[in-house]
Amino acid sequence: MKKGRTPIIAGNWKMNTTPTVAVELAKAVVEKTAGVKGVIRVVCPPFVSVHAVRQAVAGSGILIGAQNVHSKDSGAFTGEVSAPMLDGLVEFAIVGHSERRKIFGETDADVAAKAKAVAARRIRAVLCVGESLEIRESGRAEQAVRAQLKASLEGFDAWGYLAVAYEPVWAIGTGKAATPEQAGDMAGAIRQELKSIAGREPVDGFAILYGGSVTGENAGPFVDRPDIDGALVGGASLKADDFAKIVQVTASIAASAK
Ligand code: PGA
Repeated sequence: MKKGRTPIIAGNWKMNTTPTVAVELAKAVVEKTAGVKGVIRVVCPPFVSVHAVRQAVAGSGILIGAQNVHSKDSGAFTGEVSAPMLDGLVEFAIVGHSERRKIFGETDADVAAKAKAVAARRIRAVLCVGESLEIRESGRAEQAVRAQLKASLEGFDAWGYLAVAYEPVWAIGTGKAATPEQAGDMAGAIRQELKSIAGREPVDGFAILYGGSVTGENAGPFVDRPDIDGALVGGASLKADDFAKIVQVTASIAASAK
């Protein structure tokens, strides 16, 4: 965290919570993070709960994110949700999560189209990138992540509507987080690559998050790295206490950032 940047802590609830449970969780997050300053708090519920959660957090400053989006505005795409449908309902949209890439076969080109579609609606894309264990062990992680980032941002130019989440696939949902050094170094490489893709100096819109087994216990050293501006949290975001702890730790690090 560097002084002058506002950290983002985003909870990705994935395919968990019924609408009733989602509202309860949202209310608990409101209560437990009330009064924490200087951190952008985001919750990403399943689509069916977006509206109800939005109402539950009204007035709290908590923002809403979608977990996915379709790149086309409308049409014969049964079961899909488009960016215009999310307009006014969410401020963020996760695009290119590794589960979407791996389980649902999304390509870098699909991800780039999604990022453009949401940014066109002034929804900030949280673009996920990250290498597999095999690539990490082969020593090609940085090269692979840079290439994935570049391909996932093909034709993108709405730099104020972008955050990038570095999520090594081997660290997601495994309880085996990257080390703060690994994550911090990769965030530095991502920042450099973004600068070269955008062709300009980084602005505040270039928030880079770390994701992969982040908890209230381990979040501090990640956010303390100069190039990491927050976290994308899966499992721990389903527990209001744990999520609140991550927000609190981040706020205190941001307050003393140099
Ligand atoms: P995790 O998930 O925190 O459960 O590892 C992170 C993510 O998938 O965004």
